Parts: sequence; C-alpha cells; structure tokens
Amino acid sequence: MRVLVATSNPGKYREIKEGLAPLGWTLFSLLDYPFKLPPEEGATFEDNAILKAAYAARQSGLPTLADDSGLEVAALGGEPGVYSARYGNKTTDTERNVYLLERLKGIPPEQRKAKFVAVLAMAYPDGYLELYRGETEGEILEAPRGEWGFGYDPLFYLPEVGKTFAEMTLEQKAAHSHRGKALRALLEAYRQGTRRKEQPLSE
Ligand code: IMP
Repeated sequence: MRVLVATSNPGKYREIKEGLAPLGWTLFSLLDYPFKLPPEEGATFEDNAILKAAYAARQSGLPTLADDSGLEVAALGGEPGVYSARYGNKTTDTERNVYLLERLKGIPPEQRKAKFVAVLAMAYPDGYLELYRGETEGEILEAPRGEWGFGYDPLFYLPEVGKTFAEMTLEQKAAHSHRGKALRALLEAYRQGTRRKEQPLSE
C-alpha cells in the first residue's frame, strides 16, 4: 500500500517510518506532497490528528497517517497538552524546554509527573478513518539530559529505564514511547484484521 505520512516534524517522521517498516508500505512524506497542513485548532489530540490526516488524504488521494501528540504535566494542570509545539509562543525546542523548566521552578521531583500522548489518525480519501493512541508516564527533570530525539525528550525521564528519551536509541525510545505504543496498536490492527472505523469530524 502507498501511504502518505503527513508530518512536517522530522523527529516524528523518523519514528513513524521505523515503526511502520514491518508492514512493508511504500511511504511518502510532505516533501513528495508539499502542501501546508491546516492549523491545529482542535481541542484534543484526536481532533487535530483527524484534521491533518483527513485534509492530507483529500489533497494527495493517498491513505494518510498523521500524528498529533504532546506532553501533559500534572503540576501544570495538563499543560502544554495540545499546545506542546507552540508552548509559551516559543519557536525552538530549546526555548520551549527552558520555558517548561521556568514554569516548574521550585516544584520538587515527586510532583513533576508528566505524560506523553500520541494519537495517530489513518484517513482514506473516501473519508474512512481509524485512530490509535499511546501514552507514556514519566517525570520532568530539573535540567536536560541527552542528545538524541526531539522536542521535550531531554527533560522527559523514565524512572524504570533510568534514562530520558534523549538518552535512548531510536529502538529503545520506540519500545517505551507513546508513539511506539500507538504505532504497535496500528501494526496489530492491520496484521490481525481488527481495524475499527471512527467517525470523521463534522465539517
Ligand atoms: P504536534 O503534534 O505537531 O502538535 O506537536 C507535538 C509537539 O509535542 C512536538 O512539537 C513536541 O514538542 C512534543 N512532542 C510530541 N511527541 C514528542 C516526543 O516523542 N518527544 C518529545 N517531544 C514530543
């Protein structure tokens, strides 16, 4: 099957490509279909993933996978959530990490619990739609650690592994991450034939 992966985030694209490899699909990216994704105006990860995937499937004529994801920090009432990519109106990952650390200043380690969420929407040009979700719980450190990954990876620590996402290899991150879990749910649905149709957003 020929599938468009509709993300302009290279970190996400790399992880999705690795995760889908066992299905043997021919993948295209937004480099092959250079249109602009619609603004993420939805209130939930699901809404935004559907917005992106459904729009890109219509534009490209290909089954399209889109990811909407983000970080929910308990002590901040679930911030930044769907605003993770533009938290504090900052423009780079480093600035957003600094901003997050400022917001958490003085909050002790035991109250720095956080959750990453990834929702994958698979939309077909005829309107058929599937959703897959993955979540991973961890803690926000007081200073960044690690060189790999993207976004909030250097601040997101997994106590059971003893590493941040940015200290893990691609394989190790995939084994533990929200996106890895959502991708495995998709893989299983396609392999076991347990795919489930979702309702599209009302337009
Ligand atoms: P969006 O899904 O395009 O709205 O962007 C999600 C944002 O959440 C990214 O730009 C990152 O800042 C953050 N994010 C999502 N997944 C990850 C991850 O696996 N590691 C680090 N940051 C992530």
